Amino acid sequence: MIKTLEWTPEGVRFIDQTKLPTEEVYVLCGTYQEVADAIRNMIVRGAPAIGVAAAMGIALGVKQSHAQEISALRNELGQICRRIGETRPTAVNLFWAIRRMQQKFESVASEGIQNIKAALVNEAQQMLVEDIAANEAMGRHGATLMPASGGVLTHCNAGALATCGYGTALGVIRAAVEAGKQIHVFADETRPFLQGARLTCWELMKDGISTTVIADNMAGSMMRQGKINAVVVGADRIAANGDVANKIGTYSVAVLAKEHSIPFYVAAPWSTVDMSTPTGEQIPIEQRSPREVTHHGGKQMAPDGVKVENPAFDVTPNKYVTAIITERGIARAPYDESLKELSPDVAAASR
Ligand code: MRU
Repeated sequence: MIKTLEWTPEGVRFIDQTKLPTEEVYVLCGTYQEVADAIRNMIVRGAPAIGVAAAMGIALGVKQSHAQEISALRNELGQICRRIGETRPTAVNLFWAIRRMQQKFESVASEGIQNIKAALVNEAQQMLVEDIAANEAMGRHGATLMPASGGVLTHCNAGALATCGYGTALGVIRAAVEAGKQIHVFADETRPFLQGARLTCWELMKDGISTTVIADNMAGSMMRQGKINAVVVGADRIAANGDVANKIGTYSVAVLAKEHSIPFYVAAPWSTVDMSTPTGEQIPIEQRSPREVTHHGGKQMAPDGVKVENPAFDVTPNKYVTAIITERGIARAPYDESLKELSPDVAAASR
């Protein structure tokens, strides 16, 4: 399995996703600030991977602290979490991970500084193990929804590289292929950062899964020609009503899928479901550098001074989503009810 990220005694090690597919190189981040930069600069990306990277960054920062008092260590934890929390606003897994590490800190705060440090390192490593297990469970649920044979379109990279291993949308595809289904993947190249062309194709080809890359604007034509039997994508945040924020362009794919009566599935771990955000309207959308749109591989593609929009994500309204696949099971419309049913905490609170 590809090691997207890994805890080492020297720091957090990442496969550098900005260099793929032509170079397979690894980056060691020796401080939490370097981990924050790796998230911001997309050396590591994809919502679940961002979450675990954040947790490891926090563990690293706390481990390296020279604080002698718990209160001073708690202050440092606050600074570390703030710095890491400023990296990317849309993937809710980032904030989920920060909260979980803060809760861990408080649950062991009375046990002394060395124990706190060890507990946080342990927690971050545990999150990596849980993420892979969640993806495998999602794969088992989602594989049942995939066609016995045919084309499956995916957008961006929701694979091993976007998680700690196996992937969410690509985990569903992997599980379907492992179950003997004859799937051919169509990967949208995913302008402007090309996660589909660079990353999805790289990891699927490594696994020997049949894959065709298409430019984003070809998806509708492929659907019309009957080449696509299902769509499966990941998510950066799913609101309580089932609206889904994912890589820019996902919304267009979902609308096209509906027009062609093709099922549109979203696969995501429960850490991506944000029951405290009522609808997609409230999901913050990250704006990235105009240069990602105007330049490619260092070459200028648009005139100097042109106005640029570069939202990294869009929101797909729940009416386009056929089902949401999580490790807890499959949710279908009405999502405000089905997601609540999968969420024991919310169900218990409303009783
Ligand atoms: O900007 P990115 O590459 O971090 O965006 C990634 C996506 O949009 C993925 O589809 C999403 O995070 C799900 S990853 C399992």
